[in-house]
Amino acid sequence: MKNKIRLGILGGGGDSLIGIVHRIASSMHDSYEIIGGVFNPDYNENLKFAEEIGLDKKRIYEDYEKMIEEELKLDESERVQVVSILTPNFLHYPMAKKLLENNFNVICEKPMTTTYAEAKDLENIYKSKNLTFAVTYTYTGYPMIRQMKEMIKSGVIGDIQRVDLQYYQGWINPIIHDSSKRSETWRLQPEKSGISCCIGDIGTHAFDMLEYVTGMEVKELLSDLNYVYDDNTMDVDGTILIRFSDKIKGVIRASQIATGEENNFTVAIYGKKGGLKWEQQNPNYLYHLSDTDPMKVLKPGHDYNSNFSKISAKLPPGHPEGMFDSMANIYNGVAREINGNKEFDGEYPTLNDGLRGMLFIEKAVESHKNGNKWVKLN
Ligand SMILES: NC(=O)c1ccc[n+]([C@@H]2O[C@H](COP(=O)([O-])OP(=O)(O)OC[C@H]3O[C@@H](n4cnc5c(N)ncnc54)[C@H](O)[C@@H]3O)[C@@H](O)[C@H]2O)c1
Repeated sequence: MKNKIRLGILGGGGDSLIGIVHRIASSMHDSYEIIGGVFNPDYNENLKFAEEIGLDKKRIYEDYEKMIEEELKLDESERVQVVSILTPNFLHYPMAKKLLENNFNVICEKPMTTTYAEAKDLENIYKSKNLTFAVTYTYTGYPMIRQMKEMIKSGVIGDIQRVDLQYYQGWINPIIHDSSKRSETWRLQPEKSGISCCIGDIGTHAFDMLEYVTGMEVKELLSDLNYVYDDNTMDVDGTILIRFSDKIKGVIRASQIATGEENNFTVAIYGKKGGLKWEQQNPNYLYHLSDTDPMKVLKPGHDYNSNFSKISAKLPPGHPEGMFDSMANIYNGVAREINGNKEFDGEYPTLNDGLRGMLFIEKAVESHKNGNKWVKLN
């Protein structure tokens, strides 16, 4: 019987949004076994939740430092091998740092840290180790996004000339207009979230996706953010002009006050020979546009897809897969690397992707605060 990878989890308790996505995703390819962790800062809540999901209380700890200390006492054959960090943003850096220093592989939620300096520090530690570090830009796991990446790489749409990414949500709208609710959400508190709310939370998904599917690095940006109220220090909406070069340009539009929108993330890349469009709320369709032919709609699991896209669909065509499956593909990428089976570029978003994400957030805020000036990403 194959040995499953022993997984620890920090955050992601029963009260969280993203915890269940990681727990299900980690089990989908039969590669991981959840061993324990710290699901909640309150130890009793932590134990209660661990019991609910059937974990051994011996491997549930008061905090991440205790977890690392106790796990290191165990024989390597029993010790947790990979730790997923699913807490609010400000805890990612101290947790990831200590985990890397003590030779644990890491799967970290985005944004990777709260500052670029912290992300750089993680990079330095990571470079001195032989470990796997993934950042869960979840949407890169969709089969049709992977198909888009491979089609762009093989020149199907020709040289890129225009990019347009939109990530619209409306969930902050009722919160931003109510000052008491505003103080309750950690995403609007800089000490917990970092310097940005909307750009840090969802703009960073769009930025990562842009670099992921094009395989190119953004060189400059100009941003115009909206804070809505003078006493609110965190952006909830932004428009960011993007330049890869003088001749390749586009836009990232992100909003959490797009009233009534749910998770409307769209990616459109236009080249000289054609365009590719994808919508997160209809993730099983990839639209291929051209000047001459009728629009084609590509779907997962078919032979016409690339091998990378094909390994990212578990079921035959016509069986919709969604966000859990997309996250599962990222977990699978990490497992394939740990087990020495990784084949494709982009099987999971890397520490460098997390670092680029932090650079993007800081530069977007800098551009806005300096009077909407162009800034270089270097
Ligand atoms: N990849 C995605 O698409 C995606 C989607 C949602 C959230 N996220 C990211 O996931 C992270 C968590 O977001 P969320 O919406 O689930 O937050 P949340 O507030 O819903 O849940 C946070 C969880 O962390 C736990 N926690 C808090 N402090 C802790 C500590 N000291 N030790 C252990 N656990 C602790 C809480 O008890 C809770 O279970 C954020 O960084 C967020 O940006 C990513």
